[in-house]
Amino acid sequence: MNIVLVGMQWGDEGKGKVIDILSQKVDYIVRYQGGNNAGHTVVVGDKEYIFHLIPSGILHAGKICCIGNGVVIDPEVLLRELDDLRNNGIDFARRFKISTLAHLIMPYHKNLDQLREGKRKNKIGTTGRGIGPCYADKINRCGIRMIDLANPAVFRDKLKDNLKEKNEIFKKVYQHPGFNFEKVYRQYLDYGKLFAPYMSNTAVLLNEAVDKKMDVLLEGAQGTFLDIDFGTYPFVTSSSATSGGACIGTGISPVKIDKVVGVCKAYTTRVGEGPFPTEYASGFGNFMRDKGKEFGATTGRPRRCGWFDALMARESVMLNGISELAIMKMDILDGLDKVKVCIAYKYKGKTIKEFPHDLEVLSKAVPVYKEMPGWPTQDNKPSSFKGLHPNARAYLLELESRLKAKITMVSIGSAREDTLFI
Ligand code: IMO
Ligand code: MG
Repeated sequence: MNIVLVGMQWGDEGKGKVIDILSQKVDYIVRYQGGNNAGHTVVVGDKEYIFHLIPSGILHAGKICCIGNGVVIDPEVLLRELDDLRNNGIDFARRFKISTLAHLIMPYHKNLDQLREGKRKNKIGTTGRGIGPCYADKINRCGIRMIDLANPAVFRDKLKDNLKEKNEIFKKVYQHPGFNFEKVYRQYLDYGKLFAPYMSNTAVLLNEAVDKKMDVLLEGAQGTFLDIDFGTYPFVTSSSATSGGACIGTGISPVKIDKVVGVCKAYTTRVGEGPFPTEYASGFGNFMRDKGKEFGATTGRPRRCGWFDALMARESVMLNGISELAIMKMDILDGLDKVKVCIAYKYKGKTIKEFPHDLEVLSKAVPVYKEMPGWPTQDNKPSSFKGLHPNARAYLLELESRLKAKITMVSIGSAREDTLFI
């Protein structure tokens, strides 16, 4: 069974935890897009792991973990992540693979990201990790790939070309001194040597695995509404976070995908700029943010919080072909008098039932809510769906019927054990 896992909102849905759980049942786990703008948290016992690039499945002994060709890699971050694994006694030597086709985030990408953002009138609120400029170079056909580090002559030419153009932009547009060729060249060749044991034609590796009927989990980062095509453009990331990106980002054909699992929070959060119709008023928003510990795993930025938006989530089910849902952080809604689900928007007197593409409409749309009774915090955490308070169950069934997909997992705490399976 080959499964794609996608975020259904604006990222931070709790994908890390679901990947960790599903990893137990598969043989291969692959990241297919994004870079270290992602932050996937897994709690094992009293230890918290945060992964930015390596699939969180690496915590499970024997599982093969790949960084697919669709990912953009900051070598410094990847090395740090590998060091962390070593320090925690996790053996990955023979089960970690990096696609030779993955593009590299270069030092100039990070600076360009931050400098461009500084100049923009309407800021995107990027993570400043160089993601946008790296993908832009990929599409511009001047990007540098993992495989290039294994061929010093090729790498030299490509880097020379890039720095010639970029240093002029740095100087003329941003009054920045630019980058020294030798320094970057030497540093990245060293990275290349360190990564050489892991570099692999992951598309071949994965397709052989699929042919042998082994199970592959394709792990998406970010979320559907941060997708470069379907998200709230331009307040999006620069890759295809939707399930379609899983094929492009790994080389596994669409006909080989068996199932798409969508992950969403029982409410909504967003970090960075951009419209967010169901955002809570600030007082309640701050309360919920503290309660849900809604601070970025990557940048530490406070996340904006709001009610569950069924319009968005249903669109996400459609775009990704989701048949199964994991509803995360259900426990954060415990103890509220009332809970709300957005079922439509109102704009200029009209009711809208489809997620609008015009950002002005989305910014001004007023959510239409279905209000439902809340539920108390239970003294003992339930161990099954039936053990949830009836109002909590009613809330979940409401989501299920509106989204037209089946809830198979409900998370009621950060630990692996705090998960209800249906
Ligand atoms: P995970 O995988 C939440 C957001 C940024 C910004 C926009 C563009 O943890 O769910 P970028 O640096 O990608 O150019 O920033 O996208 N963003 C995320 N928000 N979770 C993420 O990943 C995100 N990755 C990017 O905050 O609004
Ligand atoms: Mg995040």
